[in-house]
Amino acid sequence: MRELNVAVIGCGYWGPNLIRNFAEHKLTTVKYVVDLIPERLQKLSRRYPSTKFISDYELVLNDPAVDAVVIATPVQTHYPLARKALLAGKHVLVEKPMCMNSAECLDLIALAAEHKLVLMVDHTFVYNGAVRRIKQAIEGGQLGEVLYFDSVRINLGLIQNDVNVIWDLAPHDLSIMDYLVGKEPTMVHASGVSLVAGKQEELAYLSLRFDDKFIANFHVSWLSPVKIRRILVGGTQKMVVYDDLEATEKIKIYDKGVMVSTEGTEEDKYKTLVEYRVGDMLAPAYDLAEALRVEVDHFADCIINGTKPLSSGEAGLRVVKILEAANASLLSGKPELISVNEHEAAVRA
Ligand SMILES: NC(=O)c1ccc[n+]([C@@H]2O[C@H](COP(=O)([O-])OP(=O)(O)OC[C@H]3O[C@@H](n4cnc5c(N)ncnc54)[C@H](O)[C@@H]3O)[C@@H](O)[C@H]2O)c1
Repeated sequence: MRELNVAVIGCGYWGPNLIRNFAEHKLTTVKYVVDLIPERLQKLSRRYPSTKFISDYELVLNDPAVDAVVIATPVQTHYPLARKALLAGKHVLVEKPMCMNSAECLDLIALAAEHKLVLMVDHTFVYNGAVRRIKQAIEGGQLGEVLYFDSVRINLGLIQNDVNVIWDLAPHDLSIMDYLVGKEPTMVHASGVSLVAGKQEELAYLSLRFDDKFIANFHVSWLSPVKIRRILVGGTQKMVVYDDLEATEKIKIYDKGVMVSTEGTEEDKYKTLVEYRVGDMLAPAYDLAEALRVEVDHFADCIINGTKPLSSGEAGLRVVKILEAANASLLSGKPELISVNEHEAAVRA
């Protein structure tokens, strides 16, 4: 099969993980790594002797041998870098969150479609074996009707200058929810505060409402003394706990639930009868492969075979729309509606 030449832009904290996975994959070669900080390039260059470590992005854009560009730079640079890559005829894998606003996302989606190029967003967790196993349980009907999604992603985190904690951490959980449940919220309520640096919110709560009873809540923080990475998905039949910090049994599926009935004898007709079901717990096996390796496999497959990306530009847009509404809600102090306008509906179609 044809080998793909990629260029990775940005080798700060996350970029080296992408470089390693693209360098180790049998279908991909890392031809270039681009960064503006020479020491970062120098440090990595010893590990990848056949890769060119450069600071001039134009060299990548002008090299016809480069098939794809992988963007791991700060979020405000995603749009201009991805736009240039698409205009130069390169496929794009861009970090989460996809862009700073939905207009930028829509422009990239339209450009990729126009030039018949793959546009994928690094929603890493949708390639994680545990998350995929939960998806299987939901699709197989094990959970029954999915009722709620509840996530906590907190630790003593690196306080960012350019984005608040919602934009930094919530894309992971929002993309997991989007993948698992496949529903788009109609309303977003965010509350948060900056308690230390006095700029971007460092601790926040996000609540999403949908056009049915399903509800999703997210707690994100850079100010917690302990690290928690836990998601609960509740269904009418079973409930799942996904703890990403567990070494082996990350998923536990509980046969627990609450049933309410108003049926009964004539006397209890007006009483609500609550029954608790406490059954077994199952810790199912799941694929242990590194999520980024699975993702690189999928990106290569999308380019070579024309497969539609799981974490497509549209998935990136759905997450950014929630983030945008969350920022609006932080400002207004009220829940904000999410709507899809005609232009957006046309681009998404
Ligand atoms: N998928 C994940 O699990 C995950 C995890 C962490 C970070 N991220 C995302 O990765 C992106 C980068 O985050 P990070 O923590 O690695 O940031 P970072 O600041 O550690 O690294 C970013 C690098 O990009 C370089 N850079 C900036 N502008 C550039 C430009 N125009 N051209 C070339 N290089 C440029 C910087 O010099 C820096 O080395 C962010 O979008 C972040 O949200 C994703």
